[in-house]
Amino acid sequence: MAARRTFRIAAIPGDGIGREVVAAGRAVLGAVTGSPAGTATLEWEEFPWGCGYYERTGEMMPADGLNRLREFDAIYFGAVGWPSVPDHVSLWGLRLAICQGLDQWANVRPVRFLPGVPSPLRKAGGMALDWVVVRENSEGEYIGFGGRNLSGRGAGSQVAVQSSLFTEAGCERIMRFAFELARTRERPRVTSVTKSNAQQYGMVLWDEVFGRVSRDYPDVEAESCLVDAMAARFVLRPEDLSVVVASNLHADILSDLGSALAGSLGIAASANLNPERRTPSMFEPVHGSAPDIAGQGIANPVGAIASAAMMLSHLGLGAEAERIGKAISAVTADGILPPDLGGTAGTDEITAAVISRLEG
Ligand SMILES: NC(=O)c1ccc[n+]([C@@H]2O[C@H](COP(=O)([O-])OP(=O)(O)OC[C@H]3O[C@@H](n4cnc5c(N)ncnc54)[C@H](O)[C@@H]3O)[C@@H](O)[C@H]2O)c1
Repeated sequence: MAARRTFRIAAIPGDGIGREVVAAGRAVLGAVTGSPAGTATLEWEEFPWGCGYYERTGEMMPADGLNRLREFDAIYFGAVGWPSVPDHVSLWGLRLAICQGLDQWANVRPVRFLPGVPSPLRKAGGMALDWVVVRENSEGEYIGFGGRNLSGRGAGSQVAVQSSLFTEAGCERIMRFAFELARTRERPRVTSVTKSNAQQYGMVLWDEVFGRVSRDYPDVEAESCLVDAMAARFVLRPEDLSVVVASNLHADILSDLGSALAGSLGIAASANLNPERRTPSMFEPVHGSAPDIAGQGIANPVGAIASAAMMLSHLGLGAEAERIGKAISAVTADGILPPDLGGTAGTDEITAAVISRLEG
C-alpha cells in the first residue's frame, strides 16, 4: 500500500459566500481524504483575510502574507469583495496580490456541462460540450500600470491612464502551457483569442508569439479568433472548442460566459497555477462573493467543490479528484440542484449529497 502523504493547505475563505463555499469544499475534501480509500492527509491553516480584516486593520492581508503562503503546498480560496470596501481595493489587496506575487501565471478554467443541469444553449442537450479556458494570469490588461492626475486643474479635468503589458516571455509561457494541455485532450486544438485588429501593439505581439509557438506543436491544431467573434462562437459553435487561450481580461469575461452557458457561474471551477511549482498554486471557484445571497445558505458550492478536486489533481491525487468529479455529476443527475440552477437545495444539502455519493 502506498504511504499516506501529508499536504499543508492554506484556506482563505474571504468574504460573503466565499466563506460558505469554502466550508463546503473542505467538508468534501475531509470526506475524501478521511475515507479508507484516501491516500493523503490535509493539514489546514485558515487565514481571516478579506474585507472584514481590512475594516479592522486597514489592509486586506498582513505585509508578510505572501511569505506565509509560500510555506504551503496549495491555497484554497473562496472569494473576496464586500460593498463596504471598494472592489479595486479588495481585489488588488488580496486575490490579485496573491496571483501576481506568487507568479501563478496560468489560470485554468474548465467549462463543464453537468448532467441534469439546464443550459441556456439549445445545442447543449444533443452533444457533449467540454472546453477549457486558459487565462494569462500575470500581465496583460491586469498588470496595474497607470495613474490618475490633473485634478489640480479643477473639476472635470482628471485623466486616467490604464495600460496593458504584453511580454514575449509572458505570452510564450501561457501559449506553451495551452498547447501542452491540448495534447492531453481528446481533440488537440488551441484557439487563441485576439483583438489585434484594434490593438496594434500588445495583441499583435500576442499573435506573433502564438504563430511561432504553434510551429513547435504540429500535432495540435492552432487557430486565432477575434474576441468579439469568440463571444458569438461560445454560443453558436462551442462544439469546435477544446483549449481556448486568452489574455487576462478576455479570458476573465469569456470564462464567465462559458460557465453561464453551462448553467451558472456557481458551478465553475478554476486553478491559478505556478506550473514550475516554485510557489503554491491557488484553487478557487470562478464566482465572486455574491453579497446579494450571502448568509442565506443557498450558495451553489459546486464550483468550490470542483476547484477542490482540481487542487487534489495538482497534488498528484488524481483518483481522489475523480471521485469528487463523479459525485458532483451523480448529484446533479439526480436533480439535487440549488436555486441558481432552478432547484431548491441549499448549500449544506448539496454538500451532504456530494459526500454521500463519493465512491470508494
Ligand atoms: N475571485 C474573486 O474573488 C472575485 C471574482 C468576481 C467578483 N468578485 C467580487 O465579488 C463581489 C460581487 O461581484 P459580482 O456580483 O459581480 O459577482 P458574483 O460572482 O459575486 O455574483 C454574480 C451573480 O451570480 C450569483 N452567484 C455567484 N456565485 C454564485 C453561487 N455560488 N451560487 C449562486 N449564485 C451565485 C450572485 O448571486 C450574483 O447574482 C464584488 O466585490 C467583486 O469584486 C470577486
